[in-house]
Amino acid sequence: MRIFERLDELYAIGGGPGANRPHGSAAEDGAHQLAASWCEDAELEVEVDRHGNLFGRAKRVRSVEKVSDTVWVGSHLDTVPQGGRFDGALGVVAAIEAVERVGSGSVVVFRGEEVGCIGSRALCEDRAALPRAFLELHVEQGPILSDRNMQVGVATGIVGYARGEIVLEGRAGHAGTTPMIGRDDALVAAAPEIQRVRDAALAIPGSVATIGKMQVEPGGANVIPSRVWMSLDVRAPDVDRLDALIAAIGFEPGYRVEPAQFSGSAPQALRAAIAASDLPLVELASGAGHDAGILASAGVDAAMLFVRSLNGGLSHSPDELSSDDDVALAVEVLSDALARLVEGEASLAPTASR
Ligand code: GLV
Ligand code: MN
Ligand code: MN
Repeated sequence: MRIFERLDELYAIGGGPGANRPHGSAAEDGAHQLAASWCEDAELEVEVDRHGNLFGRAKRVRSVEKVSDTVWVGSHLDTVPQGGRFDGALGVVAAIEAVERVGSGSVVVFRGEEVGCIGSRALCEDRAALPRAFLELHVEQGPILSDRNMQVGVATGIVGYARGEIVLEGRAGHAGTTPMIGRDDALVAAAPEIQRVRDAALAIPGSVATIGKMQVEPGGANVIPSRVWMSLDVRAPDVDRLDALIAAIGFEPGYRVEPAQFSGSAPQALRAAIAASDLPLVELASGAGHDAGILASAGVDAAMLFVRSLNGGLSHSPDELSSDDDVALAVEVLSDALARLVEGEASLAPTASR
């Protein structure tokens, strides 16, 4: 299937192991260029906005005066270090398929999703450019669909999250000559801090907290650490729990994304498409952040379709996996939902035949 060949092509950019297309890299640029060429092959009109987000507009859209009348479909092409084949990339190649099949709507490829939804947040600040609706197909990145033996599901909403840092200062010294008693070792001080962060999240049901990066200075094997910098990523299903977690850990978020709910005609179109395919409806919340959450928070009628993740739901890992059959089905559902959104209210009812 063309989708899998394209996923392979994207995966090869940046070198292995895993997908390596961090935001701002030549690899992210290369992936955008490749997606632009696929949009051109599909006879979509390619455009790049001032934030670097890529658009591929179907012909029918070009005659529409206001961009706000359109339906967008898309995701992102940047990855975490050593990421998987599907995260973001699947949503982009599927969007190109859907817009080409339906002959309407716009593909959108956002910049820098993994590092704080850079492109979608910047675009939402230019409010004039926002679409009528947005659909994002994404791997579930968790085990729920697989555990229930379901191929696809519709997202109800997205957790809120915040990112920040923890810095600990100590005093450098000679590793061989400085007695253990009286040392001021910043890395030793970091150990209980890491456990305190974990315990804060454990105490608030449904919340999570992760320290994923650490820098130890000055970084010599024979030097007592004088400074430790750690990244912090915290998430919770609602504002109250997110506030409580940030307060319990005691940090100043560098940025924060509020929880988002999907409730308009876009999720309705996905539900109608699922019903039309005689599939059972599974609805689930997303613990991962997504561009769709940013657009929903900005007032766009947004929705997400999840496709089953295999390998226990592993994601942000080269072992991320979804099956050909599940992906093919998800692209059918996505295309049908796009057609329903373009056609309007009458085709949004779950029983509407096509
Ligand atoms: C994006 O994948 C995130 O949830 O961090
Ligand atoms: Mn993603
Ligand atoms: Mn991701």
